[in-house]
Amino acid sequence: MPEPVRVYATCDIGQAALDRLRERGYAVEVYPELQPPPKRLVLEKLRSGIQALITTLRDPIDEEILATGKASGLKVVSQIAVGVDNIDRAAANRHKIPFTHTPDVLTDATAEYAFFMLGAVARRLYPAELQVREREWTTWHPYLPWLGDEVTGRTLAVVGMGRIGKSMVAKAVGFDMDVLCHSSRGSAALSGFVASVQAVMDLREREGLASRRQTIEAVSLEDALRRADFVSLHVPLTLPGTAGEPTYHLIDEARLRLMKKTAYLVNTARGPVVDEQALARALREGWIAGAALDVFEKEPLPDDSPLRDPSLVATLRLFPHAASAARATRLSPDPDVGMAGRCVQGTIDVLEGRYGGDPKQMPFVVNKEAF
Ligand code: GLV
Repeated sequence: MPEPVRVYATCDIGQAALDRLRERGYAVEVYPELQPPPKRLVLEKLRSGIQALITTLRDPIDEEILATGKASGLKVVSQIAVGVDNIDRAAANRHKIPFTHTPDVLTDATAEYAFFMLGAVARRLYPAELQVREREWTTWHPYLPWLGDEVTGRTLAVVGMGRIGKSMVAKAVGFDMDVLCHSSRGSAALSGFVASVQAVMDLREREGLASRRQTIEAVSLEDALRRADFVSLHVPLTLPGTAGEPTYHLIDEARLRLMKKTAYLVNTARGPVVDEQALARALREGWIAGAALDVFEKEPLPDDSPLRDPSLVATLRLFPHAASAARATRLSPDPDVGMAGRCVQGTIDVLEGRYGGDPKQMPFVVNKEAF
């Protein structure tokens, strides 16, 4: 009997999905702790003959990991996330190791969470609940202790018009919002989408579902920042030197200063897209009205982060990188429903040589250019 093919998961991605691998005869080992395994352990596992490595966005998959894997028979890295900025793509390409991700299945979960974050910060949901819990709710008053800002009918800028950005637009349409969208690929690339959304907006007005004609426009980043009441980020993280227009610190001091004083920033993309030092200043000094963040330059958020400044509690909402953390989205073993299922399917596609064994044809392989 040949030895079973070995799969190592750096994190428990849920029994149902991992059982799909076990049922197919793979030997699956899972790192049992909550924190990610130390790199030395991952290297040890690779040297011992792991053929598939299941990773999370917490694992740095660098040249050393990929070179060690290549030398010991690693066939695939399967990441349970859509974002893959923790994987050194150039190194994976050099070693011709395909890596997979889990797009689509988290699109709506992430966009709806971004929308809820937007509402939470604008309508002051957290301080409102604290008021009740801390027994500081002493009476009803027309404007004390504070008022929030309406979302309905306001202007949303969506920066990054991939799947999640487009889903965010769809949600904003239902809230009678005007939409400004920005893609680094240019406005022309958005013309079909913009025309379709405008048609829906026009229909809403005609049918009396919206009290006025909403509009959507593809605009420059500067225009989006200047005009929006809410700015929601949906770009992947790219570092200087790895992309034509890197998104690292895309939202820096100069761009925060372009935003309206009454505007809010929402980030569910990647923390380093925003310069956090500049954002903390922007909030303290009132360049913008508030922000809601699900992702941070360093995760978990360090104790000494300027974002923990107690004076920012009312205007800054902080979440633990949880936008896709919905039950079926995270754990369903069905590759058309859950990230776990899609992650496992990416592993199976490569290990079993599906799609004629050509990684270029495999839907969840990211670095198709290497093959
Ligand atoms: C989460 O951040 C993801 O990239 O899936």
